[in-house]
Amino acid sequence: MNDPVLVTGAAGFIGFHTALQLLQRGESVVGIDNLNDYYDVSLKEDRLQQLDNFENFSFVKQDITDKTGMEKLWADHGPFTRVVHLAAQAGVRHSLTDPYSYIASNCMGHLTVMEMCRHTKAFKHLVYASSSSVYGGNTKMPFSVQDEVNLPCSLYAATKRSDELMSQSYSHLYDMPQTGLRFFTVYGPWGRPDMALFIFTKAITEGKKVPVFNNGQMKRDFTYIDDIVSGVIATLDTPPEKTDKQAPHRVLNIGNTRSEDLMDFIRLIEEKLGKKADIEFKEMQSGDVKQTYADVTETTALTGYVPTTTIKEGIPRFIAWYRDYYKK
Ligand SMILES: NC(=O)c1ccc[n+]([C@@H]2O[C@H](COP(=O)([O-])OP(=O)(O)OC[C@H]3O[C@@H](n4cnc5c(N)ncnc54)[C@H](O)[C@@H]3O)[C@@H](O)[C@H]2O)c1
Repeated sequence: MNDPVLVTGAAGFIGFHTALQLLQRGESVVGIDNLNDYYDVSLKEDRLQQLDNFENFSFVKQDITDKTGMEKLWADHGPFTRVVHLAAQAGVRHSLTDPYSYIASNCMGHLTVMEMCRHTKAFKHLVYASSSSVYGGNTKMPFSVQDEVNLPCSLYAATKRSDELMSQSYSHLYDMPQTGLRFFTVYGPWGRPDMALFIFTKAITEGKKVPVFNNGQMKRDFTYIDDIVSGVIATLDTPPEKTDKQAPHRVLNIGNTRSEDLMDFIRLIEEKLGKKADIEFKEMQSGDVKQTYADVTETTALTGYVPTTTIKEGIPRFIAWYRDYYKK
């Protein structure tokens, strides 16, 4: 029997789906989350309710920046030799209005999780969430993990890049196996209310104006949640090894490898909803980037990750969930 996997941010969008997949393959999972109110807390609670159906799942309301609480968690439910660390203050735009919460959760929180792992005997692997936003305004496409990433466009991106550097130092110092995953715009059922697909679907359904930034001149590599989770779990199962040249740390892209036009994305939502969007074009928002596009060559070579879901398949699945969930 494997040790339980700790999933931080388990009430969040990606954390919930990751915990669910791990439970479905027979793992024991301990999920933690501080259930903050950055968006509707009842959506987080409803996700947890789905996980509660599994005997092998336990949830602890815990803030990752609380060192004493984390030590108690390890003593009561651990030790954890495999950790999927997804808790963070997410969202590029919000980092312009509440910068302190990003440093607290994404930097101090990341340190606390790493400290717990490094004091764990026979520790196997810490997989943590980075972000495509670390590529900043890079214009060479697609984004490769070999590219330089020193020019973040937002504090959010800067905290995620900091996590990668902090992790590199801990793997170097303590031989701790770690992988940072740069996720590219994740969407799907149980998705986040602050993200494009949710905002567009809600506004079109309610007949409200749909804000579209940079006059729609944006491209995103939209990645379906099931592809993301398959990447997270394949990565968890293949920890990096220490070599003569390298500490056991690596950073990988998890994207869909297609850079989609935002206006095509909106057209697909309109089609599925059977309703036109009342678009209000706006200027580019500060902190945002114009295009993202993932090169996943290394991820595929090292973990076998292959994304399979197109936006044509994924958008209808989100809309079906949205309609069902909000009919109540
Ligand atoms: N969704 C995306 O498109 C995307 C893209 C790139 C990177 N990411 C990263 O992936 C991870 C998961 O993102 P998500 O979309 O599921 O976001 P989410 O906001 O739905 O999930 C994050 C969860 O972490 C929890 N949390 C925040 N601060 C915490 C703290 N201090 N202690 C304990 N829990 C805390 C929140 O309550 C939330 O439930 C994040 O690290 C995010 O930055 C997401």
